[in-house]
Amino acid sequence: MEVVPLGSAGQIAAVAAGIVEAVVRRKPAAVLGLATGSTPLPTYRELLGRHKAALGPSYAAVTCFNLDEYVGLPVGHQQSYRATIARELTDGLGIGADRVHGPNPSSDDLPIAGECYEALIAAAGGIDVQVLGIGSDGHLAFNEPGSSLASRTRIKTLTAQTREDNARFFGSLDEVPTHVLTQGLGTILEARHLLLIATGETKADATAAAVEGPVSASCPASVLQLHPHVTVLLDPAAASSLDRLAHYREVYCAKPAWQGF
Ligand code: PGA
Repeated sequence: MEVVPLGSAGQIAAVAAGIVEAVVRRKPAAVLGLATGSTPLPTYRELLGRHKAALGPSYAAVTCFNLDEYVGLPVGHQQSYRATIARELTDGLGIGADRVHGPNPSSDDLPIAGECYEALIAAAGGIDVQVLGIGSDGHLAFNEPGSSLASRTRIKTLTAQTREDNARFFGSLDEVPTHVLTQGLGTILEARHLLLIATGETKADATAAAVEGPVSASCPASVLQLHPHVTVLLDPAAASSLDRLAHYREVYCAKPAWQGF
């Protein structure tokens, strides 16, 4: 795991956008895994800015898979993750809706929606780089504490904490769905590169538990310790509870120029 303490959310956006772009330059038909929430928005804005300035790679052959989706919102709801990703990133990059996939919550067959989504990801050849945020309770995607470290895409019930955290996107807490479809932790581990971004003090303890704590279903994001290629980008507030912060700084300062992420 490469833990990179950076100076600001803006610096994180620049580095994270560079990582995504490098994947697409190397592999024009790359498969991107996309997260929603507030954390990746500066990165998405950076990618869009570079694309509009014709500084980015072509996204013409790229396919995207969303990490999760609410269950129970009307089709096309502005807070659905399908609508959010289109609005915040993929429309602006010129990636058509037919190449942006998400777990299907409106399916009459919710019990097999996870299985169908896994099959779609496999048919696309797997995810090359997966953007991830972390919940204040340590959740990864919508895998709440207690989720199996081997879990696959399936329906989950949100914790009260997560519904409260996400109420800011809705008119009231009552409007936040109680259920979601989410990639499982085992699904996420199959992406070739995991890019976790955390910003703000509310993420400090969860980030420390994920990076330095024991691997445990009590902190689902700790499953990242089992993956061979993880990059963790942190602002000073999110990095503030790490015991080995000074070491991560030294490692990043001494990072060989040729190495990349
Ligand atoms: P946030 O959510 O980026 O809105 O803080 C992250 C998450 O819940 O995984």
